[in-house]
Amino acid sequence: MTGLATRNPVHRPVLVGEAMDILRPEAGGVYVDATVGLGGHAGEMLRLMGGRGTLIGIDRDEEALRMAAAALTSGNVVLRHAGFSRIGDVLGELRIESVQGIFFDLGVSMLQLKMAGRGFSFATDEPLDMRMDITQALTAREVVNTYSQERLTQILREYGEERHAAKIARAIVTNRRQRPIGTCRELARIAAWAYGRAGRQRIHPATRTFQALRIEVNRELDELEAGLGSSVRLLSKGGRMAVISYHSLEDRIVKHFFKKAAAEGQLQVLTKKPVRPGPEEVRENPAARSARLRGAEKL
Ligand SMILES: C[S@@+](CC[C@H](N)C(=O)[O-])C[C@H]1O[C@@H](n2cnc3c(N)ncnc32)[C@H](O)[C@@H]1O
Repeated sequence: MTGLATRNPVHRPVLVGEAMDILRPEAGGVYVDATVGLGGHAGEMLRLMGGRGTLIGIDRDEEALRMAAAALTSGNVVLRHAGFSRIGDVLGELRIESVQGIFFDLGVSMLQLKMAGRGFSFATDEPLDMRMDITQALTAREVVNTYSQERLTQILREYGEERHAAKIARAIVTNRRQRPIGTCRELARIAAWAYGRAGRQRIHPATRTFQALRIEVNRELDELEAGLGSSVRLLSKGGRMAVISYHSLEDRIVKHFFKKAAAEGQLQVLTKKPVRPGPEEVRENPAARSARLRGAEKL
């Protein structure tokens, strides 16, 4: 990949004011940004804390943590490399029993999407990778070249909500018999071919396939369920959590989780409907268009 813009991707934090309205970071508190990324939301949390209190930033991407460390230079910041399903262990190691707020901004960052070599983007000749944490073993290449046709169909259907799941899985298996599928572009071509004439639509025919593989490689939905469950236990009374999701599978998990926790008397839901970005934010940052924010308070 070439060009300064692609080497230094700008990640614009999404729904910052709206998320802060839910979290209401205060001086002296302890807050967790469970997906610290490049530190956009975390920076705002620190600003609102007025330099007093602690911000714990978690990310499973070491490269993101390096950039967050460079960006978050004021205040008491602790950064940890972990999946947020391990938020309880992270806080336990720091001897912190409870926190006043926990924030999740799910999915991938611009760094991961645009930086060379991560293999998330279907318009590149990069190796099929898609790992947020490059220390983990499973890659998209392995999923695509070793999973059974049935399992691939199931992943595309469940995680991609892909109507043509069976066709695409069949095309993947047929193609990999010739030689292993190695790059993002090869997989994108296979998905487009399987779509055939139906592929002439608004989004690229490989979009859902890539979403599905990303979710499988990074176990995103399991991580989310575990991270939400731990968060409720770790919040102090009156503490708040806010979650931004970018596709309906994630949003559904958050919505149902909040609903169940509210029915059990653990949380009060603060957002009857998800908060969406306004037209101005979407115009300035098209990546924000699918964002949905939900918040809750610990009872
Ligand atoms: C949308 S970005 C966050 C951007 C951040 N809010 C900012 O303003 O810069 C999502 C980040 O969450 C991280 N991430 C996604 N799933 C994760 C998980 N299960 N555990 C830890 N980090 C995760 C990704 O590596 C990525 O850096």
